[in-house]
Order: sequence, then structure tokens, then C-alpha cells
Amino acid sequence: MKYRQLGDSDVQVSEIALGSWLTFGNGVDSKKAAACIDQAFDCGINFIDTANVYALGGAESFLGETLANRRREDYVLATKLYFPMSDTDRGLSAQQVYKQIDASLSRLRTDYVDLYQCHRYDEETPLEETMEALTRVVEAGKARYIGFSEWRAEQIQAALDLPGVAKFVSSQPQYSMLWREPEEGVIGVSEANGISQIVWSPLAQGVLTGKYRPGEAPPKDSRAASDAMGGFIGWLVSEPILEAVERLRPIAADLEISMAQLALAWVLRIDNVAAAIIGASRPEQVIDNAGASGIMLDDETLTRIDEALADALPGTMPR
Ligand SMILES: NC(=O)c1ccc[n+]([C@@H]2O[C@H](COP(=O)([O-])OP(=O)(O)OC[C@H]3O[C@@H](n4cnc5c(N)ncnc54)[C@H](OP(=O)(O)O)[C@@H]3O)[C@@H](O)[C@H]2O)c1
Repeated sequence: MKYRQLGDSDVQVSEIALGSWLTFGNGVDSKKAAACIDQAFDCGINFIDTANVYALGGAESFLGETLANRRREDYVLATKLYFPMSDTDRGLSAQQVYKQIDASLSRLRTDYVDLYQCHRYDEETPLEETMEALTRVVEAGKARYIGFSEWRAEQIQAALDLPGVAKFVSSQPQYSMLWREPEEGVIGVSEANGISQIVWSPLAQGVLTGKYRPGEAPPKDSRAASDAMGGFIGWLVSEPILEAVERLRPIAADLEISMAQLALAWVLRIDNVAAAIIGASRPEQVIDNAGASGIMLDDETLTRIDEALADALPGTMPR
């Protein structure tokens, strides 16, 4: 496993990180989920991403319980706030920041997280209020660094322009061969300001592993077939996308790597991407995905990928 610097921080994160959306405390039974975590550590993964809203606290509670027997300094822990935790608890007001960090730390059974992220931008709270509250959380030692997820370039810049507040070190956008929006501005402003991308759904929720075949029902044990986890996969399992993904198969075969590894090496080709945050429903997937670390794709391969996916990329496909 290779490691990269997380923005302007002193933290080194594994190129492959383990996430917990839909899987932990929810769609994957706790024995298998714990096996995925053990496997991640065995593969050198040191970076774990969660959020207060995942399984409404269930993912954090599961991680708190499962990680309790490990030394805290052996892993980098990231969580988030913003999405509703109750009818009245939501957003990035100062009151919510102070309340949600304490609730997350309690569920995670730790005194601090390495990274506290705004899960979205809060249009209803002044940015100054959010940034001052996050700064106090850092000063209190409850979070070492701060980040955001899915903020627009101008929102990022506005936060950077505020004087006297903690500086963001990470950006968590959706980014994959099939979803390239961060290239349109977020990566540029991040590169210029010591902010790394830690990207979500780099496998397009499993679609880029080639497990879904055009004209066939999804495998029974897959996310798309799961009542608990299949609710967000939507457009990714449409026929045109699946047909385009089929065209990646020979590219991975020529390189003698798995399709998952091809997809993960593709996001990691950009230096500004510190980590690809994968989900996993079983340990074998963690091994496969961890194997992507260190794979370099040459220009000819990148061109073949673009040609294979040309009619499935934004601008030509309905989103
Ligand atoms: N900031 C945000 O708004 C946001 C949003 C979404 C996610 N995230 C973060 O990003 C993480 C990853 O998201 P994701 O779970 O959608 O990522 P993903 O890695 O694109 O998809 C993960 C799913 O693909 C399947 N899979 C993974 N590796 C595989 C392999 N080698 N072979 C075959 N199937 C494989 C598994 O599903 P099955 O086995 O069930 O098919 C797995 O649960 C989340 O856990 C969360 O931490 C953040």
C-alpha cells in the first residue's frame, strides 16, 4: 500500500480508504463488516471514512465498537455532519457543529477524529458561523483537521478567504471514470490551496467492477439487488452505461489487472487525489481494491478508457 499526504496536513493516508455508507451498521451484516475492517488493516489501509448520518449513527457506533481493540494512532478517522439526524438536527450552524461532533465522538468511542467534514454546503447558515465553530472544534482538540464534501469552487474559495479560521485540507467529491465533475473547478481550486481530494464511489457503486452485465439481472448478492443498499444506484445500472463498461473489460485484461483496479488506478492518476474511498461488502473486495495502489496507467491506456466510455460521459448521457 502506498500513502499520500492529505492536503496541507501532517497526515499520511493510504491511497485506498475504507468507507461505511450503506454497508456498516446497515446493509452488510456485522461479522462480514468486521472482516472487511480486519482485511483493510491487513492490506495497509489506514484511512476510514464515515458520517453521522450513515445508518443514523449506526455506522459510527459499529466502527466505535469494532475499532475499540485497536490503537487509535494506527488509523486515520474521518466523519461528517450536515444531513438530518432528527426533525430539528441538521445543517452546519454553530449549535449543530458543537452538538454533532460530541455525538459522533461518543458513538466512535474516541476523543478526536482526524478529519471533520461538512457533508454538504449549508445555504441557511452564514459561512462565517460554520467556519468559526469548526475552528473551535479544532482548537478543542476534537478534530485535527477539517474538510468538506461536494462544495462548489466558489464556496471553497469563500471559506479560504475568511481570516482567522481553520483551513480546509480535504474535499470529498464523487469522482470516477463515469463522473468527472470535480475536474471542472474543484480540483483546480483545491490544488492551489493545499486541499486534497478523497473521492467517493470511485467504483461507481460497484458498476466499474464489471459485476453488472447488460441485459442481465443484477447478481443476487450485489448492491443493486439489495433492498437496504440499492436505493441510490439508479442511472449507473442503465443499459448504455453497462454497455460502455463492457468495453473496459479488454483494457483491464491487457494490463492483467481487475476492472476494479483499473477504475481505482484511474482516479489515483491525479496527484491531487489523496485517496479513493471504497465501499466493501466482503473482505475479498478489499484485497482486490487495495491491489490498485501503485498501478500507473500510461497515456495510451487513458485514451483507450476515454474512447470506451465516450458515449457514457456527462453531456451525452442524461443524469
Ligand atoms: N460524501 C458523500 O456525499 C458520500 C457519498 C457516498 C459515499 N461516500 C463515501 O464513499 C464511500 C464509498 O462509496 P461507495 O460504497 O459507493 O463506493 P464504491 O467503492 O464505488 O462501491 C462500493 C460497492 O461496490 C461493490 N464492490 C466494491 N469492491 C468490489 C470489487 N472489488 N468487486 C466487486 N464488487 C465490489 C460492493 O458492493 P456489493 O458487493 O454490495 O455489490 C461495495 O459495497 C462510502 O462508504 C462513504 O464513506 C461519501
